Amino acid sequence: MTVDCSSWAQDQRERVEAALAEWVSADAPAGLGVAMRYAALGGGKRLRALLVLAAAEAVRGNADAALRAACAVELIHAYSLVHDDMPCMDNDVLRRGKPTVHVQFGEAQALLAGDALQARAFECLLPDGPQVPAAMQAALARLLARAAGAQGMAGGQAIDLASVGKPLTEAELRQMHQLKTGALLQASVAMGVACAPQALPAAAQAALHDFGAAVGLAFQVVDDILDVTGDSAALGKTAGKDAQADKPTYVSLLGLAPARALADRLLGQAHEALDACGLPDTTRLRALADQLVNRSQ
Ligand code: IPE
Ligand code: IPE
Ligand code: MG
Ligand code: MG
Ligand code: MG
Repeated sequence: MTVDCSSWAQDQRERVEAALAEWVSADAPAGLGVAMRYAALGGGKRLRALLVLAAAEAVRGNADAALRAACAVELIHAYSLVHDDMPCMDNDVLRRGKPTVHVQFGEAQALLAGDALQARAFECLLPDGPQVPAAMQAALARLLARAAGAQGMAGGQAIDLASVGKPLTEAELRQMHQLKTGALLQASVAMGVACAPQALPAAAQAALHDFGAAVGLAFQVVDDILDVTGDSAALGKTAGKDAQADKPTYVSLLGLAPARALADRLLGQAHEALDACGLPDTTRLRALADQLVNRSQ
């Protein structure tokens, strides 16, 4: 059964947008704040933020911590996109329907905007004051740092760049996708869970870990598919870039229909993990997983 969470999602997107607009201010020196806001605000599906907030609701988590975590993960994601689009990486000119940050502001400013968004993400997680307990702050920062760093997104991006023109095995491709994209999506779920007032039973933690892993990988499989089947106007980024740049993807490895079948299998695994987690209400997590795998942009 697919449950419609669109009005909840819309409300949460607005909360996240408003919080980000407050946290990323325009007054950083020499135009840096303007570039940061250009990269971080007013675009994107905000799926990572929604995963944080849905997971936090499922565990009746600290709402202030959850909003901070939702924004922090979106800031890391925005920074990763700024750098991913630069000429030294994917050399893309269109992102979220606008010129990419380096096209708009120059390469040096794009590099710095990415750096500063990353730092701001951690600042968001580490507020001065009593609203988020210190141990929860530390847990959230640890999860995000791991997912963004060498054993997560940055490591996966290194594999991506080193793999241009190379045929990867399915295991190698899975590893690359799990790191470059899966890690941050999985961390989004884990960060929502880390907002719980007490640690969850180990079995629930493990099931939610499996859920995050399945949706994280499925997300990049679908991104690979949309690069082939989508058009630039709908995607807000240039379609067809993976084949043009000779990147190994699930479509180049398996073909379109088997890649789609894999995404559907991973969605099935995500559903099973939710069924096994034992939490009373996982409706929103389920709806988000469906949306993420069945999206058209
Ligand atoms: C695009 O992510 C980059 C990948 C990790 C594949 P999204 O498709 O979530 O991008 P936005 O945030 O909606 O723009
Ligand atoms: C991007 O993967 C992953 C990160 C930004 C970490 P892609 O290079 O496939 O993302 P798009 O297709 O440019 O959004
Ligand atoms: Mg890339
Ligand atoms: Mg790219
Ligand atoms: Mg892509």
